[in-house]
Amino acid sequence: MKVVIPAAGQGTRFLPATKSMPKEMLPVLDRPVIQYVVEEAVASGADDITIITGRGKRALEDHFDHNPELAKYNDLPAMRGLEHLAERATIHFVRQRSPRGLADAVACAAKHVGNEPFGVLLGDTINLCEPPLLRQLWDRFEELGSRSSVLAVETVPDSKVSDYGIIAGPQVRPGVFEVKQLVEKPTLAKAPSRLGITGAYVLTPAVFEAIRSTPPGRNDEVQLTDALDRLRKGEKVYAVTFQGVRYDIGDRFLWLRTNMEFALRDPELRDRLRPYLKELLA
Ligand code: G1P
Repeated sequence: MKVVIPAAGQGTRFLPATKSMPKEMLPVLDRPVIQYVVEEAVASGADDITIITGRGKRALEDHFDHNPELAKYNDLPAMRGLEHLAERATIHFVRQRSPRGLADAVACAAKHVGNEPFGVLLGDTINLCEPPLLRQLWDRFEELGSRSSVLAVETVPDSKVSDYGIIAGPQVRPGVFEVKQLVEKPTLAKAPSRLGITGAYVLTPAVFEAIRSTPPGRNDEVQLTDALDRLRKGEKVYAVTFQGVRYDIGDRFLWLRTNMEFALRDPELRDRLRPYLKELLA
């Protein structure tokens, strides 16, 4: 499976931390977020991953590259995981020349992806799902005939509607919606439902043509949501709910919360963190 991971966004919600460091390199415990995303792709069956980067994102390439000076540490359990990823998947990097939107970033991989369906995961979002989220989406894609794009959605609270792409359409089987409308970050009053696009997709290659004919939308950027709204006029697009939890690390509260939750699940950290938190809050 080919997977494209857009990681070219500027991370302005997390300045100044992201001034000279890609937001995808922010650590959750001891791993940068991008590593969790690549792990999820590989666990879902990806053997070919293209990360879309941009200016100031070189650390992403270095993270997955071999480092001879650190080779003696490669057998440490923590480093083994990283080596394992490199053994299971080929990781390519493509630079987006300027931040022109999520759809434009995905289109940077068009030549490499070619004429086959592919997965997309966002470089700043960790999905803790079993089976892994992209695997769940790919299984749905196959169940639905292997010719329609499938995107993950979840119900979002009213206060968050304007942070998401929102879809609407009839439920055609439990947890599967045939998409009839997609709107990028609508106001609550204009939102056609509360089903928010979470940022994981299996797309047909026809999406590239849809992106080419999509004009810039919100923020003057070419939005993937708008391109998918074009795509669904030519072929079916489905939205599906999924099992699991999504962690967006895009601002300081979300990042802190993700670290807390992961630390409370970590066998080494939780026994020290629990009493510490109790003491701190007392
Ligand atoms: C992107 C998409 C949006 C989606 C969101 C999920 O927006 O454009 O449709 O709902 O990811 O996180 P961003 O968060 O990059 O602004």
